[in-house]
Amino acid sequence: MHRVLILGSGGREHALAWKIRQSPLCEALYVAPGNGGTHELGENLKLDINRWDEIVDVIRSYAIDTLVVGPEAPLVEGIRDALEADENLRGLRIVGPHRRAAQLEGSKAFAKRFMQKYGIPTASYRAFDASEEEEAIAWLRQLGGPYVLKADGLAAGKGVLILSTEEEAVDALREMFAGRFGEASKRVVIEEYLKGREFSVFILTDGRGRYTLLPIARDYKRIGEGDTGPNTGGMGTVSPVPFLTRAILHEVEQRIIRPTLRGLLQEGIFYQGFLFFGLMLTDRGPAVVEYNCRLGDPETQVILPRLEEDLLQLFDCLYATDCQFPPMAQASADYATAVIIASGGYPGQYPKGLPIHMDLKEDDLVFHAGTKLKDSQLVTSGGRVLACVGRAASLPASISRAYETVQRIHFEGMYYRRDIGKDLL
Ligand code: AMP
Ligand code: GLY
Repeated sequence: MHRVLILGSGGREHALAWKIRQSPLCEALYVAPGNGGTHELGENLKLDINRWDEIVDVIRSYAIDTLVVGPEAPLVEGIRDALEADENLRGLRIVGPHRRAAQLEGSKAFAKRFMQKYGIPTASYRAFDASEEEEAIAWLRQLGGPYVLKADGLAAGKGVLILSTEEEAVDALREMFAGRFGEASKRVVIEEYLKGREFSVFILTDGRGRYTLLPIARDYKRIGEGDTGPNTGGMGTVSPVPFLTRAILHEVEQRIIRPTLRGLLQEGIFYQGFLFFGLMLTDRGPAVVEYNCRLGDPETQVILPRLEEDLLQLFDCLYATDCQFPPMAQASADYATAVIIASGGYPGQYPKGLPIHMDLKEDDLVFHAGTKLKDSQLVTSGGRVLACVGRAASLPASISRAYETVQRIHFEGMYYRRDIGKDLL
């Protein structure tokens, strides 16, 4: 039996809580800080996830044995290293990689260098410091458009700019070097534009080369219908992905997943936890757009409802040598579609504290993200507010089912895309 603490407050963490709560191995469940939905599955604990001393106190006073770190920032900053070094926390199991391993997400330059060294297909690139502006501009001209500029460090999913003209690209580059994304953009990666269809692949790996492949999803990142407008954290998602044939999946394993795990072993980097491959299916085959050291949001909201494995049992496998990881996780044959309801104005400025009205049917599945309870009234508290998940035997039916749930939710200015999954029909 396990006493589990999930760190984070988004839809991904609500979905993790929902899945873990169903495990017969779950004795107690806490989410910190959680949101207006997670408290129905476990206890929400007030704490600042950047204050590790507070996390240590909670782990000790609630006798937590399993810590699941939802978002990337604490992992990239080394929460696992810090907690493992604490004498008082012996026996704590942490799901998520150490600081050095989390560099795969924490530094785009590190990730690109790694992929190049191990022959993993990805866009060609160069990384530049602010002192190399002229060389950076020359490289940009050589690549041609569309131009892809990435802040090296973490920038909450906003550090990637795709620009169509050279003039815009040069201006954006100068702004980045001048600190448009703070420290994160003092170093910039400029890379070749990959044309194709994006999809997200997740594994859970024990750091010794063994892993389980989780269900695959497609994410809709742009704010506008028809994939227009600025990038967001993700406005909707579908699992499984119909265009991914067995042959492509095989290629993903042979050319991307296995070489990545082999490369990590060769570098002496122990990577344990979820690893997220953001991939593009190009006309030269699948290529890596980015690595992330955690599950995706909103992808988690569709992959966990399809997952037929017990997550806590899979976590046991991370720490036990006598346990077999299923090479491919058991997943239901049905489709899941999630439609994100966002605050009006997101990903720019948006209001908070608006009352949310929901009149759900018993079998509606809704994961909360930017919500909280204020005097027992559910109110908005973030950009992405709720994820409505439809599950059905066919993709069109799962899409309709998700939008049916959307209709039972209302708050002022709410926004959602009406075309989630429709390009796949
Ligand atoms: P990232 O944070 O690296 O995943 O980038 C955010 C989004 O920008 C990706 O999900 C893609 O939609 C897009 N993107 C990033 N890199 C490229 C690239 N080299 N070519 C085309 N699109 C890209
Ligand atoms: N949905 C993409 C991400 O979580 O980064």
